Amino acid sequence: MSSHNLSLGRTQFGKPENSGKLLPIEEAHQLLNEWVGNDRLRLHMKQVAAVMRAWALEKENADELTALKWELAGLLHDADWEKYPESHCRVIIEKLEEINIDPELIHCIASHGPKYFGVEPETKMDKMIYMFDELSGFIHAAALIRPTRYEGLDAKSILKKLKTLNFAAQVSRDDINDALSRIDVPLEEIIGFVIEKQKNVI
Ligand SMILES: [Fe+2]
Repeated sequence: MSSHNLSLGRTQFGKPENSGKLLPIEEAHQLLNEWVGNDRLRLHMKQVAAVMRAWALEKENADELTALKWELAGLLHDADWEKYPESHCRVIIEKLEEINIDPELIHCIASHGPKYFGVEPETKMDKMIYMFDELSGFIHAAALIRPTRYEGLDAKSILKKLKTLNFAAQVSRDDINDALSRIDVPLEEIIGFVIEKQKNVI
């Protein structure tokens, strides 16, 4: 991610009384368009958002409000990365606190890179964004080098590529393994899910 010290220095975010307060998805997209000029980075966040939403609905039996919370976490987790690389995560967190957003959503964003931000994933939503973040980018990189892109891309070939350390070398295999150790789902199943849910995101 970066060599800056990104540690947030705290583990409590937002206010309990804001529980359930989310921003409309259109507003989150608007914020993204204002803050993120890089198409590839915007696409990354849209992909993570789509995967998060689908996981909440299909695997966690989430209601619409909860699914929106998972989706927003995906959509906003790197919103400040391009503009504020030296205080990545801090800026988006403070923005969401300022507009009185649900503390669970803020905590989820704050814990998406425990070794950078110093915040441990606690809820299933926290654990899944940590799991999906690097993996989603890795899978997209793997799709882009194929003539048929996502068509015919399967989990087995991704598993193999993960072991090829010079492919997408910037993607931390340690983070992927650490995230995996915190949940009870096989990596192959997660990879298959990510491919399926992000392949049509544009
Ligand atoms: Fe990310």
